[in-house]
Amino acid sequence: MPDADQSAGSVAKAYAPGVPQRVEGFFLKGNGHLDWGMKDRLSRIFHPDSGRTVMLAFDHGYIMGPTSGLERMDLTIVPLIAHADCLMCTRGALRQIVPPTSGKPISLRASAGSTILTDLNDECLLDIEECLRLNASMVALMVAIGSKFEALTIRNLTTMVDAGQRYGVPVLGVTAVGKDLVRDARYLGLATRVLAENGAHVVKTYYCDEGFEDVAAGCPVPIVVAGGKKLPELEALTLAYHAVSQGAAGVDMGRNVFQAGHPVAMIQAVAGVVHGGLQPAEAFELYQELRQA
Ligand code: 5RP
Repeated sequence: MPDADQSAGSVAKAYAPGVPQRVEGFFLKGNGHLDWGMKDRLSRIFHPDSGRTVMLAFDHGYIMGPTSGLERMDLTIVPLIAHADCLMCTRGALRQIVPPTSGKPISLRASAGSTILTDLNDECLLDIEECLRLNASMVALMVAIGSKFEALTIRNLTTMVDAGQRYGVPVLGVTAVGKDLVRDARYLGLATRVLAENGAHVVKTYYCDEGFEDVAAGCPVPIVVAGGKKLPELEALTLAYHAVSQGAAGVDMGRNVFQAGHPVAMIQAVAGVVHGGLQPAEAFELYQELRQA
């Protein structure tokens, strides 16, 4: 069980979600003591005034092949780039379809390994020099807490954090969820905290309906939320709304953007929630207006 003391029921948890973590010298929690290069890179990804970001994830092909909506990334992803704060992709996609003139910070998928045809998460890492060559603003890797590749992926995290610290590149730890693991607050709270304690500067995880506020409060670095499987647009906007209202620093969304009926309208509606403070219904209205434009 991930959390033995909680299951014993003897010790109350005290996350104090309403009390913001004190941050000195920077706008992102847990990252106040980093060197200049790290802070510069993070400031390209997160808006310094709000601490929030809308990241566009289209790295799915590295384990899933030509995912729906990503069959022709040159046609479907390129029009979205202007509306994203940061692009999360593989080095293949970056070199193949992302215009170097786009000026967007890159969260580079820097772990690679087994696909959906076998066991996921048996991964290795890209060379940090390759990440620097591609001007990555952040490097992202999978960490599979509770899976048989837990130790391997934590070693990967340690290796990448060491390399990132050496060169000033922040690390995004992505909580992989295996088939047998439940995406509840207990699991996500454990996984996000383990990633942060092992040096991840930002953590990507899933939203959960109950207890997400505690997950966010218990993670000492910013959390960005993945969208997960495609939902109806209003539901996806509601997920983004709840996530940021309950402490996420933004989203790192893929399928719910590029599989939306109108992806360019959808990413702008998501930004309306994350940056514009729109309620889900207002953001959905914006989506409907933009899809007709
Ligand atoms: C795949 C990833 C994806 O980037 C992540 O799952 C985000 O995409 P989505 O919003 O479609 O869940 O980390 O390994």
